[in-house]
Amino acid sequence: MPTAVEIAPSILAADFAHLGDAIDAVARAGVSMLHVDVMDGHFVPNISIGVPVVASLRKATRMTLDVHLMIENPELYIGPFAQAGADMISVHQEATPHLDRALTLIREHGARPGAVINPATPVGHLSEVLGKVDHVLVMSVNPGFGGQHFIPEAVHKIRQLRDLREQHRHNFRIEVDGGIGPENVQEVVRAGAEILVAGTSVFGKPDPAAAVHTLLQQASEAFAQRV
Ligand code: DX5
Ligand code: ZN
Repeated sequence: MPTAVEIAPSILAADFAHLGDAIDAVARAGVSMLHVDVMDGHFVPNISIGVPVVASLRKATRMTLDVHLMIENPELYIGPFAQAGADMISVHQEATPHLDRALTLIREHGARPGAVINPATPVGHLSEVLGKVDHVLVMSVNPGFGGQHFIPEAVHKIRQLRDLREQHRHNFRIEVDGGIGPENVQEVVRAGAEILVAGTSVFGKPDPAAAVHTLLQQASEAFAQRV
């Protein structure tokens, strides 16, 4: 069972011309994981960043790089992202008919595999791979853009995953991504989330370090109250 919660700031909300400063700011707040959103303009209607940016981040920081692939044919890019320095790689269940293969490939490349589900995808679609993942990412917005509103139905999916984990003695961590901020962080932690992705509510604030600090405090409080 996970023993702590963490905030994974999403660099999608940072100023790409000053990424180094953004990383330093959250590192000062004690962050040890960065969330990296990769979008291809096909799986989602937006284009973001790719392998070279992950390679540059790897040179700039020792933080865990949590790479969220929102791309078609993710199997083709697992090797390059792992070689560039991704520590965790997450693939969408909806993006490949070969989810099991993709997850195995991630592990073979030395990274930690995660499966992601969109808001309309039931938790049951992952039942056969829950023993093979290090984390499960529940999308609480429709992927493609930062700054969207949290979809509250994500909460019961997180709870379902937590129950399944307990029932089957799995070890994966539960991650939630999209619209996370002070108004819902405690609710998702109480439901079962341990990795909280936050873009706008960190880098959209004038003082990202202070924003992380507050979120982490709230999250830790809720985590300690978990039954
Ligand atoms: C959405 C991305 C998220 C996004 C979160 O497609 O996967 O990681 O950056 O941003 P906020 O926290 O602004 O919803
Ligand atoms: Zn993401």
